[in-house]
Amino acid sequence: MSSIPVIAIDGPSASGKGTVAQLVAQRLGYHYLDSGALYRIVALAGKQASIAWNDEAALAAMAAGLKIRFENGEILLDGQIVSEAVRSEDMSRGASEVAVHPGVRRALLDLQHDFRQAPGLVADGRDMGSVVFPDAQAKVFLTASAAVRAERRYKQLIGKGNHANLAQILADIESRDARDMQRSAAPLRQCEDAILLDTSELTIDQAVETVLQHASKTIPA
Ligand code: DC
Repeated sequence: MSSIPVIAIDGPSASGKGTVAQLVAQRLGYHYLDSGALYRIVALAGKQASIAWNDEAALAAMAAGLKIRFENGEILLDGQIVSEAVRSEDMSRGASEVAVHPGVRRALLDLQHDFRQAPGLVADGRDMGSVVFPDAQAKVFLTASAAVRAERRYKQLIGKGNHANLAQILADIESRDARDMQRSAAPLRQCEDAILLDTSELTIDQAVETVLQHASKTIPA
């Protein structure tokens, strides 16, 4: 067990956990792990290599050898910036599909553990508190209603000048939730020792403050 503190923030798609986790990391001067990006990269690299998202063995072999870097807010795969490419709706679906495979999840474990470096780590995903960092000093299950999450995603897309359909976004979120919660390998669930943080009625600042307060109780200053 490592004494380097970890704050594990798990929750469903588009719950805002990425934004909250990054702000918490900034406030504490901690490192940040966006574990969802890793599954998105596996989906993208699989597509580029013509490996089907249901081909567990080929995806797992590929995932173990991926050259992934996070630098200056960008995500790099084999030295190429893929930050935008992995955020597409297609890769959101692909990530959720490749993430059902235990072999893919195992192939990404060491890479995730490597992020645990002093002075600490804020990690966001689906299984940060349950599987990857079960000994995390603070665990948060961050969620919001599917309707609120769809609305936020819709506004984000429209704000960037994209075309968006609210009903379609809601349907996609609900089907991804179902896949993430019903899979047998590391399903999305709230750990017994995690606090529940429903952000449906909270601002980002309020959510960040709640996480910081919780962490201050369990992580020595
Ligand atoms: O957090 P995100 O939306 O970027 O995650 C994309 C997909 O990756 C999500 O549908 C489920 C999967 N995922 C996972 O299975 N385990 C994680 N720790 C993070 C993401």
